[in-house]
Amino acid sequence: MSKEKCILAYSGGLDTSALVPYMKEKYGYEIIAVLVDVGRMKDVEGLRQRALTAGAADSLILDAKEEFLVDFAFPALKANALYEGRYPLHSALSRPLIAKKMVEVAHRYGAKVAAHGCTAKGNDQVRIDVSVRCLDPSITVLGPAREWNMTRPELLDYLSARGIDLPITKKNPYSIDENLWGRAIECGELEDPWTAAPAEAFQFTVDPKAAPDEAAELVIGFEAGIPVSLDGERLDPITLVESVDMLGGAHGFGRLDMVENRLVGIKSREVYEEAGSLSLIMAHREVEDLTLTRELQHFKTMIDQRLSELIYDGLWFSPLARALRAFIDESQKYVSGEVRLRYFKGACSPVGRRSPHSLYDSKLATYGSGDTFSHESAKGFIQLWGLPVEVWARHHKDQM
Ligand code: ARG
Repeated sequence: MSKEKCILAYSGGLDTSALVPYMKEKYGYEIIAVLVDVGRMKDVEGLRQRALTAGAADSLILDAKEEFLVDFAFPALKANALYEGRYPLHSALSRPLIAKKMVEVAHRYGAKVAAHGCTAKGNDQVRIDVSVRCLDPSITVLGPAREWNMTRPELLDYLSARGIDLPITKKNPYSIDENLWGRAIECGELEDPWTAAPAEAFQFTVDPKAAPDEAAELVIGFEAGIPVSLDGERLDPITLVESVDMLGGAHGFGRLDMVENRLVGIKSREVYEEAGSLSLIMAHREVEDLTLTRELQHFKTMIDQRLSELIYDGLWFSPLARALRAFIDESQKYVSGEVRLRYFKGACSPVGRRSPHSLYDSKLATYGSGDTFSHESAKGFIQLWGLPVEVWARHHKDQM
């Protein structure tokens, strides 16, 4: 009788590698390892082989880089999505996509079980689990790394006791999760929120002190809320995001250091490198400033924040998140234009913006000649605007 198949979200790291023999021995599954490439992965073929070395029956690499940007990161960008006002959600955005790929592979292989290597303390277990169940409630999701209680050295011993020797020896004290939208660094000495992150924690951003003495400018072009060009040149999403990230990082922009409220109830100290995503969000906001009406813009910030929370909380595929994305899409029809960003010594600032749909009317805004604003209307407008509070004040003189 053929064994039951289990789709394992594989990263190539120690935990998911140890999961291969663990799931085989403990549950008797045949393991199909799936590595979803959402960017910044080195030697994917080597990682694919690693899963086979660990004992997987099959091992797949799915290149999801463009899909990640187009279907997950860019919709979040349209919402200027930041968790707790700072973190651009790169990890949170990748998990629903990883879940989607797991479900697709499960259907292809006729598997009814899916597994991940997330720990019990993180948000990622929630995001993968809930997303898989949203997409196919008949699939059971397992997270065995929550139960085995093995430390890193013990995991290495566990593997070598089975004759599985993997090239995972480097003494990296950090837990890293990176993709095209950003990089998270956790654990090690970073667990003390008072300790400044050491230089070696960073990989994609230079120390602002070491950044060039000359500022750099970049023009980012948007169409309907989506970035499409740099310095006037149309680029594919991957090249565009990578280029912005590299330029920002080279000028020391994009480092975040924060204490964040996790969904599972704990506060955690997080260090991030987010030069590309933060630059794009900053630029996108500038185009919105020019092209959205005040009412829409103010209302949208509430929707943006709620969607950011839903993304963080693993509810990307929920009906509410879908409905909010539909609202945001509608709001983005005219969010087209260009923004000039200037990078200098760790800072990024917008220094110019323009749009074919700009609502900025210099004839209305000017304090110089050619003014068309109706000055006499201002008086009557204020008269009526202040009327309700004036009436209230007449009635309640004693309150003032
Ligand atoms: N705290 C961030 C989040 O919850 C980053 C998580 C990084 N994931 C990881 N497995 N290291 O989205």
